[in-house]
Amino acid sequence: MLEGRSILLIIGGGIAAYKAAELVRLIAKSGGATRVILTKAGAQFVTPLTLASLSGNKVNEELFSLTDEIEMGHIELSRAADLVVVAPATADLMAKAANGIANDLASTTLLATDKPVLMAPAMNVRMWLHPATQRNLETLRRDGVSFVGPNEGDMACGEYGPGRMAEPVEILAAIGDLLGAKGMSKGMSKGMSKGMPMPPPAPIAELAPPRRGEGLLAGRHVLITAGPTHEPIDPVRYIANRSSGKQGYALAEAARAAGARVTLVSGPVSLPAPAGVMLVKVETAREMDQAVEAALPADLAIFAAAVADWRVREEAGQKLKKDGQAIPPLQLAENPDILARIARHPDQRPPLVVGFAAETEKVIEHASAKRMRKGCDIIVANDVSPASGVMGGDRNLVHLIAAEGVDTLPEMSKAEVATALIRHFAAVLAGRKES
Ligand SMILES: Cc1cc2nc3c(=O)[nH]c(=O)nc-3n(C[C@H](O)[C@H](O)[C@H](O)COP(=O)(O)O)c2cc1C
Repeated sequence: MLEGRSILLIIGGGIAAYKAAELVRLIAKSGGATRVILTKAGAQFVTPLTLASLSGNKVNEELFSLTDEIEMGHIELSRAADLVVVAPATADLMAKAANGIANDLASTTLLATDKPVLMAPAMNVRMWLHPATQRNLETLRRDGVSFVGPNEGDMACGEYGPGRMAEPVEILAAIGDLLGAKGMSKGMSKGMSKGMPMPPPAPIAELAPPRRGEGLLAGRHVLITAGPTHEPIDPVRYIANRSSGKQGYALAEAARAAGARVTLVSGPVSLPAPAGVMLVKVETAREMDQAVEAALPADLAIFAAAVADWRVREEAGQKLKKDGQAIPPLQLAENPDILARIARHPDQRPPLVVGFAAETEKVIEHASAKRMRKGCDIIVANDVSPASGVMGGDRNLVHLIAAEGVDTLPEMSKAEVATALIRHFAAVLAGRKES
């Protein structure tokens, strides 16, 4: 599984640091090696001795450690690693990494590394939801950092909400995904929630916490589409749209954090794969339609992709040439209507089907009509007129349109919108089951 792979694990100063010890044990059990960097605050929660015993390696704590810095320890540590994992990623470490601050061994290494980075944030719910942390999260995502968690649930501080660090098995699955490790990658993340291979390991007895909440969508399968589709004209040209996929990817992360098994069917985007999510990459509307069908059954289906309504009827086999002749006419054909098809699926209609409507005028009126036309339960409508900055931007203002009426959420980051929507959908699903 992780044979021959080397993980550089940075442990920050949060209560969840005890789980990092368990992660070291799991990596070793999977055949991987771990080098540990422990922050000063991290050492308040877990001892270097525990980590050295579990990893079989010296634990690194100081930037200005004479012998290590002769060898440029902070550079060497990352050079020798296949992946840098930060768990727990404190609000402080996220802030430093997002802003290029390098004032201790952990943050200097994060700035100096050219290896992929996976963060498992853990903090109090208000620290997590604070606009500063959410801004740092967006920045880090844009910089290519992957995230696993945080999960939603009871917290050590006695509060409830998102902020609990992902469990060590989830972090291990995300490591497998990122390293493409055999028997651990997508298949394993997916299988784990089905209770297939990889049973949860025995916790280290003296460090084991009481088991707490499992997440609002635990045991559910959530299917999400995201991004644009590309409809080929010839081998080098295509019809596309300005969708960035950010809102759909944020929804996938929020659903994963709420404990769901998530299948994300994505058109071409330049976003990193969300950790712990089954990502199916497609190009055209017809491929997306097939991938969605293959992913059924699902408890909740969210169609956030901007699927092209039309494709070119006859894709040219060779590049079209500008040879002085008449301009070639583009004959269009209608693409499958994925949302309407799934909302009226004869035998596998998900219990909750949500569509997105991108409108440039009369947003609520057009989106309400779309909900009726498509037969879905909820439409999330947003204004994508150029003045709104939604397409490709990081913020969104959405209206939730259901049979019961219209709800408008305040303008928020796409990550915050995703968390709010997933909570709402989980509540609707829970209500349906009880009734
Ligand atoms: C008891 C206690 C628990 C804490 N838990 C967390 C936590 O879970 N997440 C977090 O971001 N900060 C937490 N903090 C605050 C961090 O320890 C503090 O911001 C520290 O500067 C982080 O340093 P580091 O990022 O270098 O590890 C906690 C502090 C205390 C005293």
